[in-house]
Amino acid sequence: MKITMIGTGYVGLVTGTCFAEIGNDVLCLDVDARKIAILNEGGVPIHEPGLEPMVKRNVAAGRLRFTTDVDASVAHGSVQFIAVGTPPDEDGSADMRYVIAAARNIGQRMQSPKIVVDKSTVPVGTADRVHSTIAAELGARGVSIPFSVASNPEFLKEGAAVEDFMRPDRVVVGASDERAIQTLRALYGPFMRNHERFLVMDVRSAELTKYAANAMLATRISFMNELANLADRLGADIEMVRQGIGSDPRIGYHFLYPGAGYGGSCFPKDVKALQYTAEQFGHPLTLLNAVERVNDGQKHVLVDKIVERLGEDLTGRKFALWGLAFKPNTDDMREAPSRVVIDALTARGARVVAYDPIAMDEERRIFANAPLLAYAASPIAACDGADALVVITEWKEFRSPDFDDIKSRLSMPLVFDGRNVFAPELVRAAGLEYFGIGRR
Ligand SMILES: NC(=O)c1ccc[n+]([C@@H]2O[C@H](COP(=O)([O-])OP(=O)(O)OC[C@H]3O[C@@H](n4cnc5c(N)ncnc54)[C@H](O)[C@@H]3O)[C@@H](O)[C@H]2O)c1
Repeated sequence: MKITMIGTGYVGLVTGTCFAEIGNDVLCLDVDARKIAILNEGGVPIHEPGLEPMVKRNVAAGRLRFTTDVDASVAHGSVQFIAVGTPPDEDGSADMRYVIAAARNIGQRMQSPKIVVDKSTVPVGTADRVHSTIAAELGARGVSIPFSVASNPEFLKEGAAVEDFMRPDRVVVGASDERAIQTLRALYGPFMRNHERFLVMDVRSAELTKYAANAMLATRISFMNELANLADRLGADIEMVRQGIGSDPRIGYHFLYPGAGYGGSCFPKDVKALQYTAEQFGHPLTLLNAVERVNDGQKHVLVDKIVERLGEDLTGRKFALWGLAFKPNTDDMREAPSRVVIDALTARGARVVAYDPIAMDEERRIFANAPLLAYAASPIAACDGADALVVITEWKEFRSPDFDDIKSRLSMPLVFDGRNVFAPELVRAAGLEYFGIGRR
């Protein structure tokens, strides 16, 4: 199948590459010439496990190409996936300008029938907007060419995106046009050879499903964070509570980890966008408003603990900070809790020496003018002369450090564990003071 992927970011690049991997002819478009140049020179602009070799393999096989040429991209695919960003606008609504620009480009140039598929996370009603945008452009050209618009929200997780895409739990398709449904069924068939996971529904339900999924996961995290803060006051251990409830199959273990708050490019913006839609339709979501409030507060809990232990004025203090990315296995720093912690510590006069296995370049770009922020070559080097170790991202390589070595390098024996990655008794056995989230 000839496929065009509009938007070559985390979703577009992974999706396009995986479609090429099973034999499709894929052209990925982006307006970001820098990104396309990196790809055309054999690089991969994002970190995603397993992606680079797959990109190289499919480029070499001639099944995967990258371009900034809109004419070529519209001409190429009989299926045009829209996978552009939908960042939050100032009022919290999803900014639809990139999606609509993509639709307009298609309407202005298409010469043959197209199936247009919204893969970006978009508010309910967007497929209708994309449809009317394309129809208006065709009308302005005075031509009539058949096309349909389907919704196909993406559920991949950054850090495991290739794996998720190659083995999806489900593929949700919202469409009413039988030809679009059959085409997408054929396209996704190879990813679900062992059993069918293709869910067809109406377009609005598909659009809402994506927001509902992220809102549910964010709710579980905020629920646990709120209980963790209560456990702190009650002298209970939230990690035991987590196991006690996660073992109930009706609840399960996923997304029950208390920590320094959720971040990333999806949960914060999708929760906001769903709230906005709900308010617009006169049905504010009481529960989701609380989920967001809890999360905003949670990003400050670690700093509150630090201030409680060391005082409000942190001038001259130095903190070793492990983990910058919003979660492990990605270099994505969007809405990362580490940014809030770094801002709060440096605003109080402290210096921060950070280490992250892959997100340090991205961090340097974001905090270009931050004289109180420096970077270490290794996790242990960050501890040299620091007053405390602060863990923000649960990278695997942080899980089992040499606590004696850490103790010998820190100038004060303090560990603030924002992801509950350490066993408190092991930390304390090395003579360190341990502060977790919701743990005695
Ligand atoms: N990142 C995730 O984990 C994830 C998961 C599921 C869904 N989503 C959703 O998928 C969408 C894309 O997310 P992302 O993380 O890949 O974003 P991203 O910012 O990494 O990539 C979007 C790309 O679209 C490009 N673009 C913008 N306008 C364009 C246009 N008119 N033509 C061509 N390219 C254009 C941008 O330059 C950018 O490279 C969003 O709606 C997001 O909510 C993301």
